[in-house]
Amino acid sequence: MGVLVCGGAGYIGSHFVKEILKRDEDVVIIDNLSTGHLESIPHQNPRVKFYEDDIRNPATLDEIFSANKIDTVIHFAADALVGESVENPLKYFDNNTGGMISLLESMRDSNVKQIIFSSTAATYGEPKSIPILETDPNEPTNPYGESKLMMEKIMKWVDQAYGIRFVSLRYFNAAGASEDSSIGEAHLCETHLIPLILRVPLGQSDHITVFGGDYDTPDGTCIRDYIHVTDLADAHLKAIDYLRAGKSSDIFNLGNGQGFSVKEMISAAEKVTGQKIKTVIGDRRPGDPARLVASSEKAKKILGWNPKFTSIEKIIETAWNWHVKNPKGYES
Ligand code: UFG
Repeated sequence: MGVLVCGGAGYIGSHFVKEILKRDEDVVIIDNLSTGHLESIPHQNPRVKFYEDDIRNPATLDEIFSANKIDTVIHFAADALVGESVENPLKYFDNNTGGMISLLESMRDSNVKQIIFSSTAATYGEPKSIPILETDPNEPTNPYGESKLMMEKIMKWVDQAYGIRFVSLRYFNAAGASEDSSIGEAHLCETHLIPLILRVPLGQSDHITVFGGDYDTPDGTCIRDYIHVTDLADAHLKAIDYLRAGKSSDIFNLGNGQGFSVKEMISAAEKVTGQKIKTVIGDRRPGDPARLVASSEKAKKILGWNPKFTSIEKIIETAWNWHVKNPKGYES
């Protein structure tokens, strides 16, 4: 059997490709390389085909679906910077929401009936209670989260009309790198906490700025639920099995269920790297909720998913190993 991976050269997409290739599957990747990396694609593997293009190009999608045996689409291709989405919302509604419409049209026309979608904790907005359940209200506080929520709603109606079933996976904070350090997190414009913390012991930054020290949390800094990227990849494999077993469309949170504050993350990184990390408390970053922690009980129960990386130090260690080996990301 075969899958189409949209955005397979990106951070989470490339880790998924690495995991699915451990199974007997053919993998077609489409990626416009706007944020993904050609170097992360396993070109040498004869079961991998790569198309460099945008999912909003229907001719390419039609060609992919007619030339390859594909029963499931795994859709990672999207812009994902909260701050940028506030400044340039139309980019997000065009690329993310518009991209989903193009993709689903091609799937409908080519009779491809299953899709797994990268959704986000940002669909919830400011949580009403912790841990967050899938049934909690969705009130996104930024266009990124709104674009992803719209994509979920589009899939619901498309399922009703054309029978394209979906699994939507709402990631909390994706973190870490593959254990063999062959692929990892490398963004052209880095905004994420762990890679920014690690720049200090790598000698690439003088300090890490903590965005706000006056939140209503025990140490005053924001709390997040960090989940290892290989565990996220594994949830997609389980979602493929779920859809192939003929089960109905559904939405699942993916997190570890444990929250860590920014200060706790810095302490954990000091332990992993054996170095003191200079910290400066700065202003709050607009739009950051104080606390985001998932309940992933539904994914555990229904998909049979069980994250293996439950230690925050182990998660940071995989990221550290990748950054030490690739201090300039894929450029090195
Ligand atoms: N932070 C700092 N300093 C930094 C960078 C981040 O203190 O230099 C803090 C943030 O304020 C936040 C925490 O570290 O409290 C984590 O920030 P990230 O930017 O790493 O991650 P976010 O929680 O903002 O974003 C993640 C995903 C998004 C998703 C969002 C849902 O990366 O795609 O969760 O809220 F939309």
